[in-house]
Amino acid sequence: MAHPLLSFLVIPLFLAIITNGQLNYNFYESSCPHLPMIVRYNVWTAFRNDTRVAASLLRLHFHDCFVNGCDGSVLLDDTARFKGEKNAGPNKNSVKGFDIIDNIKADVERACPSTVSCADILTLAAREAVTAAGGPYWQVSLGRRDGLTASMKAANVNLPSPFEPLDKIIAKFTSNGLDTKDVVVLSGAHTIGYAQCFTFKQRLFNFKSSGKPDPTLHPSLLTDLQGSCPNVDGSNNKLNPLDTSTTYMFDNAYYKNLVNNYGLLESDQALMANQETAAMVNDYSMYPYLFSRDFAASMVKLGNIGVITGQEGQIRKKCGSVN
Ligand code: HEM
Ligand SMILES: *[C@@H]1O[C@H](CO)[C@@H](O)[C@H](O)[C@H]1NC(C)=O
Repeated sequence: MAHPLLSFLVIPLFLAIITNGQLNYNFYESSCPHLPMIVRYNVWTAFRNDTRVAASLLRLHFHDCFVNGCDGSVLLDDTARFKGEKNAGPNKNSVKGFDIIDNIKADVERACPSTVSCADILTLAAREAVTAAGGPYWQVSLGRRDGLTASMKAANVNLPSPFEPLDKIIAKFTSNGLDTKDVVVLSGAHTIGYAQCFTFKQRLFNFKSSGKPDPTLHPSLLTDLQGSCPNVDGSNNKLNPLDTSTTYMFDNAYYKNLVNNYGLLESDQALMANQETAAMVNDYSMYPYLFSRDFAASMVKLGNIGVITGQEGQIRKKCGSVN
C-alpha cells in the first residue's frame, strides 16, 4: 500500500539512483582508454620523487568535494568574477598538488582533447595516491563534469577546522551526506602527510588557558613537539608528520596513535573522547583490513558528493580556469 509519506521518500531516492547512475566505471573507456594509465604514471613518478605528494593529492580531492561537490572547484584560480578556494583559510599555503594535476591534465589533453574533466582526474589521482602509499585500491566511477565557479566563502564555511569540536565536524560531514563513521574512517587519511605547527600548537603550552599542555597528548610526543614547535610565532609554519610512526605508509597506524594519545591535531585526538567514535578507532587500530575496506567505501562516498554530470558544467581545457 502506497502511504503518501512513502512517495516523498521513494521518489527522491529513485532520482538519486538515476543521478548516480550517470557516473560509471567505463565512462571514458572508448573516448580516453589510456586515462587510468596516464594518471597512474604521473602520480607514481611524482611519488617516487617526493612521497608527500600522496598526502597532498588525497587532501586536495577532499577539499574539492566538500565545497560545491567534486567539481574541480578547488583547482580554479581567482578571477574578476569570483574569489576562488585556493586562498581560503584552510587552503592557503596549505593545499598542494596543483602542479601534478596540471601535468596529468596536459598529458590527458594530448591523448584525448576536451574529453576528461579535472574533477575526474583529481578523483583518480587521489585513488592512485593512496595506492602508491601502500593503501587500498578501489574502483572509481567517472563522468563528473567541471564546475564553472568556485567560492572562497564556501571553502571557509564548509571545510573542517582542527580547532572545532567533534560535533561541529560531524555536522559538516552530515551536510555532505556522510555520517559519523565516514568521519572516523576518512580521518584515517592522517596516516600520511604533514601539518604545520600552528594547527596544533594550542595543545603544547597553555591548553584552554590552563597554563598546562593538553592532558590527552602523550608526554613523549609533547616533548618532541615542543622541541620542533617552540612557543614563538617563527615556528608556526614548520611541518610535522601527522603520523610519527609510519609517516609515508598508508596504514592503520593513525588509529594506533590515537589509542596511545599520539594524535597530532586536537580534532584527531577528540575521536577518543566520544564513546561511539572511540569504539570505531579501537576497531581500526586492531584490524587493518577493516580499515582498508571501510576507507575504500568512504572514499567512494566522498567522490560522489554533489557531482555534476551530463550537459551540466563543462570539460575544462585547463584545470585552473573555466573555458
Ligand atoms: C575530520 C576533519 C579534518 C580536519 C579538521 C583536518 C585538518 C587538517 C589539517 C589542519 C591539516 C594540516 C594542514 C596544514 O598544516 O597545512 C591536514 C592535513 C591533511 N589532511 Fe586533514 N583534516 C580532516 C579530514 C581529512 C580528510 C577527510 C582527509 C582525506 C580523506 C584528510 C587528508 C589530509 C591529508 C592527507 C593531510 C596531509 C596533507 C599534506 O601533507 O600535504 N583530512 N588536515
Ligand atoms: C621533486 O620533489 C621536490 C620536493 O621534494 C620538488 O621541489 C621538485 O620539483 C620535484 N621534482 C620533480 C621532477 O617533480
